[in-house]
Amino acid sequence: MDTADLDEREIVLHDAAGFAGMRKAGRLAAEVLDMLVPHVRPGVTTLALDRLAYDHVLAAGAVPATIFYRGYSHSLCTSVNHVICHGIPSDKPLKDGDIVNIDVTVIVDGWHGDTSRMFHVGSPPLKARRLVDLTFECLWKGIEAARPGNHLGDIGHAIQTHAERNRCSVVRDFCGHGLGRRFHMAPNVVHAGRPGTGPLLRPGMFFTIEPMLNLGRPDAKILDDGWTAVTRDRSLSAQFEHSIGITETGCEVFTLSPAGLDRPPYPS
Ligand code: MF3
Ligand code: CO
Ligand code: CO
Repeated sequence: MDTADLDEREIVLHDAAGFAGMRKAGRLAAEVLDMLVPHVRPGVTTLALDRLAYDHVLAAGAVPATIFYRGYSHSLCTSVNHVICHGIPSDKPLKDGDIVNIDVTVIVDGWHGDTSRMFHVGSPPLKARRLVDLTFECLWKGIEAARPGNHLGDIGHAIQTHAERNRCSVVRDFCGHGLGRRFHMAPNVVHAGRPGTGPLLRPGMFFTIEPMLNLGRPDAKILDDGWTAVTRDRSLSAQFEHSIGITETGCEVFTLSPAGLDRPPYPS
């Protein structure tokens, strides 16, 4: 038995009640990002954004999944410029020209909704906006490959092909993941791969797709805080994330923006 088979046997297949639970959780996570849109401006601190998110989630009767998660203590990850992922909210203000990923995971009635988007801070340079656009396109190439009969490797292949055709690299050190009643579970969703490899996709599988693309080399390192992942060459990095469920005919995206604010530039 190879590792793909092992992985496949661990993947939970959810029923209609699971889809209903994920729909609610995914919606709240997306609403948190919608709520933040007008606040992401030059001068705001990522800690202030974190506080807004915390208050919003609690007011909705839910909880942020990341507080107390492996020693993490915030509601958001805020990853600015060359930070790939898991940036910790801080009192440093965002500045004009930054790009920032904001990642939120909420627990609603025991179900996890996990999503992230890029935001422009003021007017980022063209190369930064291009990276953001390409990363968004890669997420959707992956989502389009997420259907029964395809394999997990088809998702990674679609993402990698589009990224590399446009001279960007795909981070390998961090993956998407199964989720549902737990935050991180099987399968590991690698954002690069070969067609037809990995577990077969079946209706009822829930997982995230969350490609991270770099303008330069794919290599990552973790800072001394134990969380912040940055590009080794300090090149810009971008990421988008959706939580999805495989259906009979394709997939359902649980974390679409109810306000239609799925990608920047957002109306100001
Ligand atoms: N939301 C992230 C993901 O997409 C995980 C964040 S874990 C944290 O999987 F502890 F860093 F918040
Ligand atoms: Co995730
Ligand atoms: Co996330």
